[in-house]
Amino acid sequence: MQIASSIAEMKELRRNLPESVGFVPTMGFLHEGHLSLVCQARADNKSVVASIFVNPTQFSPNEDFEAYPRDEERDLAQLEAANTDVVFMPQPSEMYPVDASSWVVVEGLTEGLEGAARPGHFKGVTTIVTKLFNIVEPTRSYFGQKDAQQALVIQKMAKDLNMNLEVIVCSTVREPDGLAMSSRNIYLNDEERLSALVLHQSLKLAQQLFNDGERDAGVIRRKMREMIEEQPKAEIDYISIADTNTLNELDSIKGKALVSLVVKIGKPRLLDNVILGGPD
Ligand code: PAJ
Repeated sequence: MQIASSIAEMKELRRNLPESVGFVPTMGFLHEGHLSLVCQARADNKSVVASIFVNPTQFSPNEDFEAYPRDEERDLAQLEAANTDVVFMPQPSEMYPVDASSWVVVEGLTEGLEGAARPGHFKGVTTIVTKLFNIVEPTRSYFGQKDAQQALVIQKMAKDLNMNLEVIVCSTVREPDGLAMSSRNIYLNDEERLSALVLHQSLKLAQQLFNDGERDAGVIRRKMREMIEEQPKAEIDYISIADTNTLNELDSIKGKALVSLVVKIGKPRLLDNVILGGPD
């Protein structure tokens, strides 16, 4: 495994990689969710590149950029074990020179949900992902369904801007008890860790109501809310039942629907989602 810590090094290594190239962008502090993307990239491509870069522009000033968990040594050991060819770990000063003034913005899809809760977040994500795509020039790039809106936004950006790559979305990897894996789960103490199960439980409730024939999105939202409100540690940010392509909120479910929610448990905002009427 080779490590590129500058853009020039990454481009040089890229020139010698056998085609095709699968790329997994991450912010590090890796877990099985990230590694499932690397594993899929490995299965689909001759070469695999992963990046570790805690991207400052996708955090707002009051968020956890400085405190975002980091463990470079452990990340590199995991990527090596997963048979990664190149890890790109650039410096913030090189990715964002002081005179940089260009941004990539996806309209519409970025306005609701995480976009509404975290103004400017997606502008940071789409800009860094575009820059990484331009530097790594992957054949395919891999994103997690865990961040459903992010995956949709990146797919839309790649299509709208005729980017020369395929964006592949991989299913959410969970702990044995159902909690979706996340780098931010480390912030949970034991009591909060138990309360956090309510996210998956409420999504299972939505799935069960849907399977039993419920199609009124308002009823499903309300029952999820009631379940979550029973958890003293849980503070609901949003519960959304939306069209899987446009992310517009639904009154009634005709075909598929994306049920997504954000609940604050102690310090972290935890995200999870499920697709009703389709694969998770
Ligand atoms: P990060 O949160 O490190 O996540 C990197 C990738 O791993 C994302 O595509 C995310 O959806 C995926 N992922 C996270 N948890 C997962 C899980 N439990 N199961 C499956 N996949 C999971 O998302 C980002 O970084 C950044 O926004 C980034 C795209 C790197 C741009 O900075």
